[in-house]
Formats: sequence, structure tokens, C-alpha cells
Amino acid sequence: MKKLRYFIYTLLAVAVIMTIVYKMMDCGPSAHLSDDEKMEAIIGSSGCMDCHSANPELPFYASFPLAGDLVQEDIAKGYKFFDMTAMLSALKNGEHISEADLAKVEKVLMKGSMPPAKYYLVHWGSVINDSEKEIALTWIKNYRAKHYPNPLAAPQFANETVRPIPDSVEVNHAKAHLGEILFHDVRMSSDNTISCASCHSLNTGGVDNKQYSIGVYGQTGGVNAPTVYNAYFNFVQFWDGRAVTLADQAAGPPLNPIEMGNDSFDEICKKLSADAQFNKAFTAVYPDGINEKNITNAIEEYEKTLLTPNSRFDKFLKGDSTALTENEIKGYELFKEYSCATCHVGENLGGKSYELMGVHMNYFEKRDIELTDEDRGRHKQTSAERDMHRFKVPGLRNIALTAPYFHDGTQKTIEDAVQAMGEHESGVTLTADENAQITAFLRSLTGEYKGQLLKNEASE
Ligand code: HEC
Ligand code: HEC
Ligand code: HEC
Repeated sequence: MKKLRYFIYTLLAVAVIMTIVYKMMDCGPSAHLSDDEKMEAIIGSSGCMDCHSANPELPFYASFPLAGDLVQEDIAKGYKFFDMTAMLSALKNGEHISEADLAKVEKVLMKGSMPPAKYYLVHWGSVINDSEKEIALTWIKNYRAKHYPNPLAAPQFANETVRPIPDSVEVNHAKAHLGEILFHDVRMSSDNTISCASCHSLNTGGVDNKQYSIGVYGQTGGVNAPTVYNAYFNFVQFWDGRAVTLADQAAGPPLNPIEMGNDSFDEICKKLSADAQFNKAFTAVYPDGINEKNITNAIEEYEKTLLTPNSRFDKFLKGDSTALTENEIKGYELFKEYSCATCHVGENLGGKSYELMGVHMNYFEKRDIELTDEDRGRHKQTSAERDMHRFKVPGLRNIALTAPYFHDGTQKTIEDAVQAMGEHESGVTLTADENAQITAFLRSLTGEYKGQLLKNEASE
């Protein structure tokens, strides 16, 4: 037994020495490779795909008892945390890499946490040395600058994972005007009682501040309503991503039996066409008249105007260092340190990826509500095992106005939501001070709509 222990210690010592030597040699990918090829080579030599893909090529000792179990466990855990397949294939094929993936890889490179020590001590060539780290971080920075340009930020914030909201985006104003009317028009519902604004009032942060929304005939839905403000920036719409565009999204509620309860769009079109004045105004903009395609297109145009730029945080990112208090800046630092900013990325601080609710700790086991169909998240659409409980990450803009939180509307305050995020998504128990700082930072995300600081009129 003793002999075996010595043998293991010797092996470990050799591995540590070889790792140190390898790090000192500081050899990286060949200089003649292109930048993309260098990045690909680093991912290859660091064994990332051994633990971050669905079908890893298992190392020879994976079948050994004990050692094998540990390896299998790491692989399962690694894959649960992060699937790197899309990033690697996009890199190889010159396709688009998600900004959440970029942020995650950047974060582990900066921390030096990947590949895990117990992996590189066995695969000693896999440790990422300083020159590889430098190459990889520069590659990410350049990729981000090219594909997610950030012209509004001050130079020192140009490589952040989050960006200021632009004052406006290109909009067809005539169409947006019709969209605005439709958004507030109860004729969009079967019994003429509910408009989009009933659940997404612009005076209450673009939400209804209810755990679940109430639709036609007082029926209650099963999932919390996200805000329409800045929804334009989301890569897909709905918690489960079932609508790719805002127009696709707008086609949903009118036919949803609980929300607006129409049997078909014809019902709506008939009502709207009977209004001679509206019909005339609509046909002036859409010559082929009132139909589902044009209605949802107009609403999409209108939603492009529902942006909330110029929050104090945005002013800070644009270079006004006085826009945030010291406490709020600390909160932002913590937001980055605890990896919040690797899922809550982009203009909307979210809305760019699907993420597992309960990465570090099972969320649904502890919750006192029975599992619902909505809890399946992305799984509702794909039925893929890995998508169970994965949700489109909600944006955090105007979060101070949009309580309650989470897809199940269970978190009444930002503080509660932040504490739960720390535990389930970042693997930390935040101290009361940390929670207060992060929450203060999140409150600085309230932006302006039509030049006025957005308010929630119901909570005044
Ligand atoms: C031996 C298996 C293994 C290898 C090899 C490996 N990882 Fe991981 N990875 C894990 C595990 C396990 C986790 C879960 C977090 C933890 O245990 O620290 C993880 C987590 C991650 C995360 C999520 C981090 C977070 O905090 O959410 C990223 C991103 C990541 N790895 C990237 C990489 C990259 C890039 C490489 C290659 C340079 C790599 N990993 C190599 C096992 C591995
Ligand atoms: C009865 C309340 C209700 C009505 C009416 C309603 N919505 Fe919603 N809206 C919701 C709920 C609840 C969700 C989340 C549903 C889900 O993700 O499955 C949602 C989701 C959305 C989203 C996606 C936001 C995101 O971040 O994913 C947008 C955009 C939106 N609604 C716009 C509209 C428009 C436009 C209309 C009118 C055509 C409308 N809603 C009518 C309750 C409502
Ligand atoms: C692994 C990705 C991930 C990380 C890391 C993460 N979040 Fe989240 N965040 C999510 C997802 C997914 C949800 C939606 C969860 C749900 O609805 O069940 C969410 C929801 C939230 C919400 C509620 C938003 C709303 O409108 O309902 C807040 C606030 C939030 N996160 C803040 C944070 C903070 C602060 C941190 C860091 C301590 C953090 N998040 C870390 C993915 C992440």
C-alpha cells in the first residue's frame, strides 16, 4: 500500500515538473497558422472537447475503475456546464460564434481554470501556457470587435461583454406608427378586452408585474411575462425561444387561447377592416392591406422603437466615470467576477443564449411549486435531454421595474433573484454586502424612453 502511494506521489511530482517545464518552454501554436487556426490549435491541444462535447473521445484510462469514474464525472459535469461544439464548428467554418460562448471561454482563460489541473497533470501538454493564453485572449478580443462592434463605449470598455444601447435603430416610422396602434388595440383579442399592452404596459416597465399574466376571460397563464422593452436585442423570443423574430412572436398571443383567444387571424382582420379609417391608414402603408403578415410586421417595427438607452450604466460605459456611485461600480466588478457577465451579455445584459437554470445547484428540487410544463424551457421545443430546464437568458435592463423575476415569477425582489443566481448559476453564496452592491448596480440599468427616465407608474 505504502509503495503504491510513493509511486503515485512520484508520478504526480513528475507530472508537476513536466507541466512547469512545458509552461516555461512557452511553446504555442505554429507561427505560420492564421489567427483562427491558432485558436483552433489551442482548443485542440488543451483537450477542451474531451469534456465539452456530446461525444468526446474518451482517454484510454476512462475505462479504468476509479480513475475512469472520475473522468466520466468530469466529462458529464463539463458538458452540463458548457457545450463547446457550436463554437468550434463555427470557428472551423467561419460562421458566427455566440457572444455568450466567447465570454465564457474568455473568463476561464483569464482565471486559468481550464483545463482543470487534474486533467493537465495527466495530459501534461494540455496546460495553457502564457503565450497560448495571450494568443487566445487577443483572438477573442479581435473577434468581438469585429462581430459585436461596440462603437459607443469608451476605449477602456470596448472589450466588455456588455454594451450600451444605441439611441435608436433603423425603423420604418409609418409602419411603427401602425404597430403602436395595434399594440394598444383590444380588437386584437377575441372578446375585445385585452391588448398587448394589457400585459406589457409601457408605463410599468413593459411587464404586468404579476407572477403569471391574466388573459381573456380572466384566465391565468403559466409563465412570467418578460418585458417588451429592448426585446429587439434578444437572439430569439420567449423563454423557450420558440419565436425567432419579433414578428413571429407577435403572431403568438392573438391565437393563444389563454392570452387573446382568437381562433384565427381572420377574426382580427375582419374587425380591423370594418374600421374604414384604420383600413385606409393601414392600406396607405401596406398596399396589400390588413393581414397577419402585415399586422405582425407593423408590431415588429414598433418594437424596434421600444429601446431604453442612456441608463446611468450606459453613461458610465460611454466614459462618464461619475455616472455610477462607488458602490454601483463595485457591483459591476462583482457582476463580472462572479461570471454573471458571461451569461448576461450584450446590449440587453442577456437574451443571447440558452442557459441551464441550476448549473451549480438544482433549482427545481428545492422550489415549493410542483414541476410545470413551462419549467422544461427549451426542452419544450427540442425534446433534447440537454435542453431540459434551459431558458433564454432574460435581459436585465430596467430590472428595477419588472418584478417579479424568473420564468416562474417566484422571486419577489431583485435581492432574492440575485442571491438565487449566485447560488444556482455562479456557485457562490453572496454576502449581504455583495448582494447589495450587485443590486445597486442592477438598479442603475434603468434607461430612458422618449428621452425620459423610465418609471413604473404602478409602484409609485
Ligand atoms: C477534464 C475535463 C475538462 C477539460 C479538458 C476542460 N474542461 Fe472546462 N469544465 C470542466 C468542468 C468539470 C467544468 C465545471 C466547472 C468546474 O468544475 O470548475 C468546466 C467548466 C467550463 C466552463 C464554464 C465555466 C463556468 O464557470 O461556467 C467553460 C467556459 C469551460 N469549462 C471551458 C473550457 C475550455 C475552453 C477548455 C479547454 C481550454 C476546457 N474547458 C477544458 C471540465 C473540463
Ligand atoms: C395575457 C398577457 C399577454 C398578452 C396579451 C401578450 N403578451 Fe407578450 N408575453 C406574455 C407572456 C406570459 C410572455 C412569455 C411567454 C413565454 O415565454 O412562453 C410574453 C412574451 C412576449 C415577448 C418575448 C419577450 C422575451 O424576452 O422573450 C414579446 C416581445 C411579447 N410578449 C410581445 C407581445 C405582443 C407584441 C403582444 C400583442 C400581440 C403580446 N405580447 C401580448 C404575456 C402577454
Ligand atoms: C449560467 C448562466 C447565468 C449566470 C452565470 C447568471 N445568470 Fe442570471 N439568469 C440566467 C438565467 C437562465 C435566468 C432565468 C432563470 C429563470 O427564469 O428560471 C437568469 C435570471 C436572472 C435574473 C432575473 C431576471 C428576470 O427578469 O427574471 C437576474 C436579476 C439575474 N439573472 C442576475 C444574475 C446575477 C447578478 C448573476 C451573477 C451573480 C447571474 N445572474 C448569473 C443565467 C445566468
